[in-house]
Amino acid sequence: MPETARLTLPDGKTLDMPVVIGSEGERAIDIGKLRASTGYITLDPGFVNTGACQSGITFLDGEKGILRYRGIPIEQLAEKATFVEVSYLLIYGHLPNKEELARFSSALTTHALIHEDMRNFFENFSNTAHPMAILSAMVTSLSAYYSDGASAANLESFDLNAARLISKVRTIAAFSYKKSIGQPIIYPTDKLSYCANFLKMMFALPTEEYVVDQELVDIMNLLLILHADHEQNCSTSTVRIVGSSDANLYASVAAGILALWGPLHGGANQQVIEMLEHIHAEGGNVKKFIDLVKDKNSGVRLMGFGHRVYKNFDPRAKIIKQACDRVLKKTGNPDPLLDLAKQLEECALADEYFIGRKLYPNVDFYSGIIYRAIGIPTNMFTVMFALGRLPGWIAQWKEMMEDPDKKISRPRQIYTGPVLSNYIPREKR
Ligand code: CMC
Repeated sequence: MPETARLTLPDGKTLDMPVVIGSEGERAIDIGKLRASTGYITLDPGFVNTGACQSGITFLDGEKGILRYRGIPIEQLAEKATFVEVSYLLIYGHLPNKEELARFSSALTTHALIHEDMRNFFENFSNTAHPMAILSAMVTSLSAYYSDGASAANLESFDLNAARLISKVRTIAAFSYKKSIGQPIIYPTDKLSYCANFLKMMFALPTEEYVVDQELVDIMNLLLILHADHEQNCSTSTVRIVGSSDANLYASVAAGILALWGPLHGGANQQVIEMLEHIHAEGGNVKKFIDLVKDKNSGVRLMGFGHRVYKNFDPRAKIIKQACDRVLKKTGNPDPLLDLAKQLEECALADEYFIGRKLYPNVDFYSGIIYRAIGIPTNMFTVMFALGRLPGWIAQWKEMMEDPDKKISRPRQIYTGPVLSNYIPREKR
């Protein structure tokens, strides 16, 4: 007998609703017939209790600190996989065999260049433009060049456009950095791997030989893998909402990039470093800053702390914290901000304010310290997050488009404005 949940309304009427059970035992009440049967809707600001879809991509248990892509623990992927493999896994549902990986990698290589005309676009942004503004505009522009862009009506071009997007976003990110520092653009190199190519496009100069550092390539793979998907977060939900109107893949992803930019989401990694720099400049008084955060009137949050879903620890933060020590040892440049971050974490985790609210370091708390160590400027941190999250957005868009029950996203509301009133002629106001 399928499980049901019974709702009793104020007038005594009842409604039995099916219970949906996920493969890891998560339970949801299917309210699909609620409004049609009762006239009621549910109200859930911030979608704290609302499942927007059923998905087979990422499993996350916030109480136990579990994160798995297509069933595989993030710890295993972080240790053993490459970002390209993980991208394939997320998008196509299984780890690629030798031929599949070769085909996918070759598609990424083939599509690494952007249309030469698009290079002119970079010239017209001001030097102070935030790279996330440039990235989102450039991704939207891609749809002007690839009018065969994957859409609901044209899913057969999905593979081609997914590869284009993953490859070109990397090129766009590196070009926007070169533009911001006034250096010549470095083109991608076919024989280099995905991450090695990115590092070269970011840091090489035409005047000198660039030697790829495998340890930096490994660390970049790790960071991108850790960011690659996180089920129905703000930017992914945005990609799904935009895509639900049958907008094409580029338009949907560009919207996701803009959602990610916000300081409560992917923008937090930039904010963390700015916060640490501020505390450092003020003399490094960690206790004073924690007191400021606890003062509700200050409006100050401990950036890189807290998560809507993780209430125990964020497994990504654990992996990144360990990697921080490794990277700083390798570069030989100890970063005072890492010590400060560790002190802040220790102080917060011992404080009742953070304990009671189950606030722990999230993925953004330590990632900026690694980005800094490998030479990535602070305002590019969220672009790095976007680069990592891209396969997740693409996988979620594809899953939604292939879902026979797909519907345009259109939440309802409870209206609280004025009741019926009449137009007052202008001369009488
Ligand atoms: N510093 C201080 N207090 C906090 C923080 C924080 N970082 N995060 C949450 N709180 C408090 C909040 O004030 C509230 O207190 P009270 O119950 O007294 O009103 C309580 O904890 C619950 O917070 P919330 O804002 O209702 O929780 P949420 O689930 O809506 O928000 C969050 C989650 C991530 C937006 C929030 O924790 C936050 O703003 N963190 C800082 C920004 C950040 O690091 N964002 C990156 C998130 S992880 C990467 C990603 O997905 O992008």
